Amino acid sequence: MTVRRSIVAGSGSYLPEKIVTNADLAKIVDTSDEWIVERSGISERRMAAEGETTSDLAVKAAEAAMSAAGVSGSDLDLIIVATTTPDETFPAVATHVQRRVGMTRGAGFDVQAVCSGFVYAVNVADNFIKAGQAGTVLVIGAETMTRLMDWSDRTTCVLFGDGAGALVFKAGEGEGTAADRGVLSSHLYSDGRLHDLLYVDGGPSTTRTTGFLRMQGKEVFKHAVTNISDSIRVALEHNGLTADEVDWFVPHQANKRILDATARKIGLAPEKVVYTVARHGNTSAASIPLAIDEAVRDGRIKQNDLVLIEAMGGGLTWGSSLIRW
Ligand code: UT7
Repeated sequence: MTVRRSIVAGSGSYLPEKIVTNADLAKIVDTSDEWIVERSGISERRMAAEGETTSDLAVKAAEAAMSAAGVSGSDLDLIIVATTTPDETFPAVATHVQRRVGMTRGAGFDVQAVCSGFVYAVNVADNFIKAGQAGTVLVIGAETMTRLMDWSDRTTCVLFGDGAGALVFKAGEGEGTAADRGVLSSHLYSDGRLHDLLYVDGGPSTTRTTGFLRMQGKEVFKHAVTNISDSIRVALEHNGLTADEVDWFVPHQANKRILDATARKIGLAPEKVVYTVARHGNTSAASIPLAIDEAVRDGRIKQNDLVLIEAMGGGLTWGSSLIRW
């Protein structure tokens, strides 16, 4: 049986230049390098410069991914940007990217699923390709999370950072088995009852302001390991695969302890986990494509490798995806 598959043609990423260390944060809130490293695994994060927007980061990541894939703006049918920190309430960041990469046809839109945004966007892109509605799709995760921080709240402001990552997917053919290259399957979930655990306390139709990120970290942590592990199990079972067959686990980088606990729970060897949380912090929807691009460029992720991605974030939302490179 011949099936249409969404195959990764290239990856790219971009980090703002400014590095903010734990010591820098200890100067503005009552915290310490020791506490942040021990509780989250984060040592430093990047911060967008004054005037540098989410679309600026997104365009740089997109250009790198398009160059790696050998495609230009005119080759793209669709741009999907996963973001929670758009330049403006509207239009979508994707339309800014569209203009700046020289794409004058097709469509672009944003996906809002907070830290799970990239997994959601991959699933949407895959469905567009499988349905025959698009042949070449640029999927970006881009965030300026530092703009949502309450810099007097030590429980959140030490955790997040800015950055962007992107993948270009191209339609290809497979045989409908887990040996195919491309997105094998994605599995998305949300539970709106858990709103209060992680949200932003502002928005156009409530306060008419952007608001600040609020999180009950301990509660989110408890849901994270369970939900993420469950969605990974579903993905592996759906494809008749076992954890042993996964070559690279590229999780959303929220907290090293969550990543370690999840890998342990699903039986994945630590050396198969791609960690960037120490240097990037939590970049929400950007964290997975940033980590993927790092592992592609340093030669870890190679063609035909089985790559597992997963995330959980505000909503709550969560999900997983298996991609054969
Ligand atoms: O990406 C979206 C999903 N987000 C996540 O997955 C994040 C999930 N949660 C976490 O990563 C962790 O819960 C945190 C890193 C946010 C916090 O770690 P924790 O081990 O759950 O700490 P805690 O919230 O239980 O706080 C322990 C103590 C508290 O003091 P008391 O009540 O024990 O006296 C906090 O007030 O640490 C205190 N604390 C801090 N101390 C120094 C909280 N933040 C800080 C800080 N520096 N920055």
